[in-house]
Amino acid sequence: MAVEPKIIAFCCHYCAFTAADLAGTMRQQYPPNVRVVRLPCTGKVDVNMLLQAFDSGADGVMVAGCEEGSCHFIHGNLRAKKRVTYAKNLLAETGLNPERLEMFHIAASQGPLFVQKEREITEKITGLMQNSAAQAKDERINKPSEKAA
Ligand code: FES
Repeated sequence: MAVEPKIIAFCCHYCAFTAADLAGTMRQQYPPNVRVVRLPCTGKVDVNMLLQAFDSGADGVMVAGCEEGSCHFIHGNLRAKKRVTYAKNLLAETGLNPERLEMFHIAASQGPLFVQKEREITEKITGLMQNSAAQAKDERINKPSEKAA
């Protein structure tokens, strides 16, 4: 059975969302399992929002903002970067692989890069999900039978 990860992409309006839009204009396709959420700036992202996305069933979350030094709200992307790092630590504490959350910076003119990043995260999350499923199966197989005890 093919694994279809649900991925939420929080994109800032000025760069990442414009890059996603450009990718569409260029007729470049990215995986349909990625849901783009447009924000005025990645500085709008807070830790609760990131964790809530996982709690609501997302398998992976990405935050995509302007390149460093290009945020239209000056430091929004740098604040988001710190929050993503903090949220990754919380994920690790709860037992979720922090690799499921990622942030990258992109310029509005980089439609193809946006597509590439979407594909990369989809592949990575798919791999993580397959590993988790295999690990769970191994644990079930290797679990000592309750009758034997
Ligand atoms: Fe793009 Fe702030 S406006 S990250």
